[in-house]
Amino acid sequence: MVVFITGGSSGIGRRLVLHYLGRGCTVATVARREANLADLYQSLECVRGLLRTYCADITDKKTIAKTIAAVEQELGPIDLAIVNAGTTYQQLEPNLDLECFEEVMLTNAIGSTYTLVPLVETMLKRGRGQIVGISSLAASGSIPRMSTYCASKAALNYLLEGLYWTLKPHGISVTTICPGFIETEMTVKHQIPSHWCMTLDRAIAEIVRAIEQKPRLYCFPFWQYQFVRLLGIMPDRIKEHVFNYSIEKWFPRPTLRSKKHDARKIIQSP
Ligand SMILES: NC(=O)c1ccc[n+]([C@@H]2O[C@H](COP(=O)([O-])OP(=O)(O)OC[C@H]3O[C@@H](n4cnc5c(N)ncnc54)[C@H](OP(=O)(O)O)[C@@H]3O)[C@@H](O)[C@H]2O)c1
Repeated sequence: MVVFITGGSSGIGRRLVLHYLGRGCTVATVARREANLADLYQSLECVRGLLRTYCADITDKKTIAKTIAAVEQELGPIDLAIVNAGTTYQQLEPNLDLECFEEVMLTNAIGSTYTLVPLVETMLKRGRGQIVGISSLAASGSIPRMSTYCASKAALNYLLEGLYWTLKPHGISVTTICPGFIETEMTVKHQIPSHWCMTLDRAIAEIVRAIEQKPRLYCFPFWQYQFVRLLGIMPDRIKEHVFNYSIEKWFPRPTLRSKKHDARKIIQSP
């Protein structure tokens, strides 16, 4: 089985790469940080599958299309594609930071679409395949400080939901996975309190189970999902109180504000 995963250089993506290699799959992954991809090879004892890494940026339309074509040529048809690469930022000022907005939308919504287009095309030709998008509970409703991230993941959810209905009759399954907070570089960088985060082990177990069961939408953990749903039906008056009194507790202000990802420099065509 050939598995294609975007964002294998850290966090969820890296762990999914190791999981599928351990199962004997052939795995291809794409990310920008060459050093992290090289480091992935160091942790490859005890795995049975074959790994190929591609240093590429998903926001570069031509490069990601070429990468997917190269994966299929070198490893064979992609059976499972996990569109996982993503980024976030906390908006600490009332003003929208356009540069951050562009980067988050370009990565999470547009870059994911650049990845999906060639995948859908090649899977449609074969009449089979599985696509999984790693979205977020943030797609369920917008909250202060996270509005750009919420908007980008909501766009991804809507795109994937439409694709689910469109591609189902063609033999292609599409699953949207919406996790709550997980202990990864992303939550560490934004100093999300650890008591809000589930362990990466637990998240990977949930994600792998959802990939096997192929539902249209899978949201976890249960209580964070219920809380997000409750926020969605709460009258605005009450919601305003919740946000006014709780937002600083939920998301304490990070001491350092990091805007751009250092790794942007490492962009290479396959
Ligand atoms: N952690 C959470 O609490 C949480 C919760 C819900 C959903 N998610 C979602 O889960 C996914 C994975 O996040 P994570 O928590 O594992 O964070 P992470 O450790 O920061 O991983 C993000 C991955 O995406 C890759 N990436 C980002 N921009 C890219 C680009 N332009 N081109 C290619 N690769 C790119 C990064 O690789 P390079 O930097 O090397 O390019 C990295 O491998 C994201 O979509 C995120 O929104 C995370």
